[in-house]
Formats: sequence, C-alpha cells, structure tokens
Amino acid sequence: MDGFQTILYEKDGGLAWLTLNRPHVLNAINLQMRDELWEAAHAALYDPDVGVVVFRGAGERAFCAGADISEFGTAPSYVEARRARQQRDLWGFLEDFPKPLVAAIHGYALGAGIELPLFCDIRIASEDARLGLPEVNLGYIPSAGGTQTMPRTVPRGVALHMILTGDPIGAEEALRWGLVHRVVPRAELYLEAERLARQLLERPPEALRLAKVALRRGLDLPLDEALRLDGRLARRLLADEGLRRTLARQG
Ligand code: COA
Repeated sequence: MDGFQTILYEKDGGLAWLTLNRPHVLNAINLQMRDELWEAAHAALYDPDVGVVVFRGAGERAFCAGADISEFGTAPSYVEARRARQQRDLWGFLEDFPKPLVAAIHGYALGAGIELPLFCDIRIASEDARLGLPEVNLGYIPSAGGTQTMPRTVPRGVALHMILTGDPIGAEEALRWGLVHRVVPRAELYLEAERLARQLLERPPEALRLAKVALRRGLDLPLDEALRLDGRLARRLLADEGLRRTLARQG
C-alpha cells in the first residue's frame, strides 16, 4: 500500500507484513506512525485476501524502542491528546482484531515496543531481543495497555518486577515466562514468522476468529459466564455450513 512514511505495508499471499520503519530512532512510535498503523490495520481487516498480519521492525537494532519520547508533552492540549487517542484507539482495535496477529521481535522491544506485541496472538523473538517496560524510569507507567496485558501474559510477580524496575529481560527469559512463544537465531526470525503465519492461513478463519474471542473475552469473565460464552461460540461454529462440510469430508 502506498503513501505511508513511517511503516511499510506489504501483502504476500494471504499474509500482510507490517514493518515499523523509523530505524534511525529504533522504530519509536510517533503520532504519525500510530495513525499509519491504525490505517494499515484497518486495511488488513477489511481486505479479504489478508488472513494473518505479521508485525516486525526495520533495521538491525530494534523491533521498537517504544513511544517517541521527543513528542512527549508536545500535544497542543491534554484534551486534544485524549480526543485523538479515543478517536483512534489503536490498542483497543488490535485487542479485538479478528484475524491472527504475529509479532517477529528482534533487538530492543521496549515500552510500546513490547505492548504492541502483547496484543498479538503469537510472539517470536530472535536471540538478541531485549524486552522491557522502562516507563518508570521516565516517571511514567506503561500506557499502551502494558499494566494489564503483561500480567495477563506472564506471572503477576514477573510483570510487577518488569514494570517496577523497568529492567529489560533477554529472549530466553522471555521464553521461560511465556512472554514469547519461540526464540530463533536472528537470521531465521522472518522465516519462522512466515512459517507460523502460513500454518494459521491453512486454518478456517472463522474458527480462528471465535477462538480469539473465547480466549480474550472469556478469561476476564467469571468461569460460569466464560463457559456459557464458550458454548455459544462453539454452537455458532457448529451451525456453520462450512464446518459441517469440513467435518463431513473428514468422515
Ligand atoms: N523515542 C524517540 N527516540 C528514540 C527512542 C524513543 N523511545 N529510543 C531511541 N531513540 C533514538 C535516540 O534518541 C537516538 O537518536 P539520535 O541518534 O538522533 O540521538 C537513536 O534512537 C538511537 O538510540 P540511542 O539511545 O543512541 O541508542 P543506545 O544504543 O545508546 O540505547 C536504548 C538504546 C533503547 C537503550 C535507548 O535508546 C533508550 O533507552 N531508549 C528509550 C526507551 C524507552 O524509554 N522507551 C519507552 C518510552 S515510553
């Protein structure tokens, strides 16, 4: 897709590669990138040819070093900054994104640079990845969902340690805590991301969509309500003509 200045959006047989592309500032997310991510994610959502989105970062040093610090405090007014965020709630949009999202993480993944992958369904890291939430060092707290998504992903104590100290962790430790699902050598990162994405592309999209809803919504409900949600979603799939055909084919 043309016209983006801070990201690259490339389609390749059902897969959309979304590359954060400001390598001179370690792919820090400025307002323009945020807006372009919003537009590209909508393009991927409405494009029937796209089944999976993979996020990655340009350059050798970072997936993303977080929000662009040079823009802190530059909004014309607090009210305007809040309004822009509410009108284009990128993080809320990604949280509800119905297609699988994959993050291929190398180098620094700090602040929003790990909070974005936390909205993804699968996170693969290369061995050089350094993942952290350093906001406290700036007198701030993670504000792209990290205070909520991190403890829903890794044990609460690990999340607290990361948020309170601001210290990044390495790829192997991230793997141990379940923050990433796989660690591979740097040279294999995008091959592995593509392999996983293509595996997902072979699955029925409606089953993937409802599985995401069941997990994302269900985990925040009391168990009895979550089980009812699970039942409703499963029945919806059973009523689906496509599923009946697939099951019939498999005998
Ligand atoms: N926002 C804006 N610019 C950033 C940035 C950010 N979050 N992170 C890095 N940059 C820029 C640096 O200002 C520098 O630009 P310059 O060459 O014009 O001076 C360039 O990226 C390279 O970073 P640099 O700090 O020189 O690299 P380093 O190897 O010494 O350190 C980091 C790398 C990631 C440890 C360091 O850049 C850092 O701590 N960044 C901020 C991370 C952060 O706090 N993120 C959360 C924000 S809420």
